[in-house]
Amino acid sequence: MRNFILLFVLVFSSCSNEGKKQDIPQLSKAELEKASAFGQTFSKQSFEALSTELKKQIASKGIDSAIFACQLMANPIVDSIAQNEGIEIRRIAKRTRNRKNAPSKNEKHLIKLMERAQSAGEKLSPFTFLIDSNTIAYYHPILIQPLCLNCHGEPGVSMREETYETILNTYPMDKAIGYKLNDLRGLWAVQFDKSKITE
Ligand code: HEC
Repeated sequence: MRNFILLFVLVFSSCSNEGKKQDIPQLSKAELEKASAFGQTFSKQSFEALSTELKKQIASKGIDSAIFACQLMANPIVDSIAQNEGIEIRRIAKRTRNRKNAPSKNEKHLIKLMERAQSAGEKLSPFTFLIDSNTIAYYHPILIQPLCLNCHGEPGVSMREETYETILNTYPMDKAIGYKLNDLRGLWAVQFDKSKITE
């Protein structure tokens, strides 16, 4: 994974200034550890809030009525974490259901590198780095679990056709199907001010 990280930092710096070389300062090892722990706390809390809500809704109303439980900002816990902490929490994916979750150009590179790392048999780990002198970005891979296949699997195979139809009613441009267990579904993206780990 280390080679992929280095490659990404290079790609990221060259993309972020229209091809001109730009020196983004690096975090020290101690800062990197703190930032990574900070990002992980909130991606984990958000993931738990979402999957708890999904399981609750599926158990009480069934899959087809639970589809909105996977909307991030409709989740009051995630929303209040972001508000209270003054941080940004997003989920991005190459193939989206909701275009609002589309990655930036640099984030697309990162997803591609993670996919390559995964197909090379590497275990994916989170990425943390400065995106400008004050802002830290933390990216955590999201892998497909059995629960997710209900709405992101193969219609008619690992996912009910009826569920897919219900999803298409709300998301006619849906591209977020056809996943298999352990596929890289996307990334949690947590962005915060550097002061969060230095104060
Ligand atoms: C009950 C159906 C359902 C289940 C189960 C479900 N999702 Fe989703 N998922 C959705 C819907 C609907 C959206 C679009 C949310 C929005 O509008 O932001 C979505 C969006 C996403 C996104 C954002 C990117 C995009 O495509 O817009 C990710 C990442 C994601 N889901 C991952 C997962 C993972 C991981 C699991 C399993 C833990 C899971 N989902 C389970 C319905 C579901």
